[in-house]
Amino acid sequence: MSILVTGGAGYIGSHTCVELLNAGYEIIILDNFYNSKSESLNRIKEITNKDFKFYEGDIRDREFLDNLFATENIEAVIHFAGLKAVGESCQKPLEYYDNNIGGTVTLLLAMKDAGVKKIVFSSSATVYGSSNPSPLKEEMPIGGTTNPYGTTKLYIENILQDLCKSDDEWSVCTLRYFNPIGAHKSGRIGENPNGIPNNLMHYITQVAVGKLDHLNVFGDDYDTHDGTGVRDYIHVVDLSIGHVYAVKKVLAETGINIYNLGTGNGYSVLDIVKAFSKASGIEIKYEIAPRRDGDIATCFSDPSKAKNELGWVAERGLEEMCEDSWRWQSENPNGF
Ligand code: NAD
Ligand code: UFG
Repeated sequence: MSILVTGGAGYIGSHTCVELLNAGYEIIILDNFYNSKSESLNRIKEITNKDFKFYEGDIRDREFLDNLFATENIEAVIHFAGLKAVGESCQKPLEYYDNNIGGTVTLLLAMKDAGVKKIVFSSSATVYGSSNPSPLKEEMPIGGTTNPYGTTKLYIENILQDLCKSDDEWSVCTLRYFNPIGAHKSGRIGENPNGIPNNLMHYITQVAVGKLDHLNVFGDDYDTHDGTGVRDYIHVVDLSIGHVYAVKKVLAETGINIYNLGTGNGYSVLDIVKAFSKASGIEIKYEIAPRRDGDIATCFSDPSKAKNELGWVAERGLEEMCEDSWRWQSENPNGF
């Protein structure tokens, strides 16, 4: 029996595949390489010294999915595949609704018809919107998303809730990620964003390798300890290990469970700049710029539910996140 990993060639997917293989799971990866490279699959094999099957295809292609489920013995799905750029989603909302919501509904229909009713879904802290105070807890009301990307996550969460209400054979684990950064210790896999990065750590590492001149710090007048935005950065390997715990849960029980995957610590933009400079020995040039539309001052998790119910805790600190981000970027300045 295998775990099907959609989007397994991507940033979080590739790290999760390493952890699943290390934990002894058989996996099958499905990806259309829209935002990833096939080289990441070679690197997963290199790191783990294990093999797996790969299908190149699209989660919106029902015939392809039906053939895959008919051919393979799949026990559960971890569903990473989707588009994730907040800014792009405002320019191309239909593409985001089609890929993320349409793709997920097609996948769920194929799973239902194949009798595979166990899924772990990649959601985001963005579903908490801007009115809940941090630390964010799973039982807080969700909604008030400020961009189509966030709205796709919100709708998919609702779809999964409705599905579990309609049929008690489903087993769903919705994981709300905070801000994943870092890379595998080997320096062989990491995030490989297309074009100019939007996320803080990727921007910083590109300034460090000289590809970008300086970092724009979006706002220094927030109500935080130094005026810059505070987030809950989590090492991608800790996040990935969280999926191994979540898979165990969906294999063992039915019903829906929702968990924050975060550390519970909030760091500001300037805290990250300092920590990265220390880890890399490189001064990061920055300028204070206006606030970015849609940003909130502070967003960090209460991760206690995942600790109490899954037994999972993030173990890697900020220094390790910065060191590992830097190793990946400096050893692979052009990505894969
Ligand atoms: P990523 O872009 O690196 O990985 C997504 C993968 O899915 C890519 O390999 C891409 O080629 C593939 N894909 C996209 N559409 C597909 C389709 N229609 N069919 C098949 N494959 C498809 O992104 P990531 O950072 O690894 O994120 C994984 C998931 O986690 C996404 O759903 C994302 O929204 C969610 N998430 C990410 C973050 C983050 O900060 N990285 C935060 C919260 C949630
Ligand atoms: N920031 C800068 N300069 C930059 C980039 C970011 O100052 O060039 C700041 C932002 O203003 C924010 C912090 O760094 O205060 C983090 O920004 P990111 O873009 O790295 O992350 P966000 O918290 O805005 O968004 C992330 C994911 C989204 C997800 C959201 C909530 O990118 O996909 O977390 O989970 F929806």
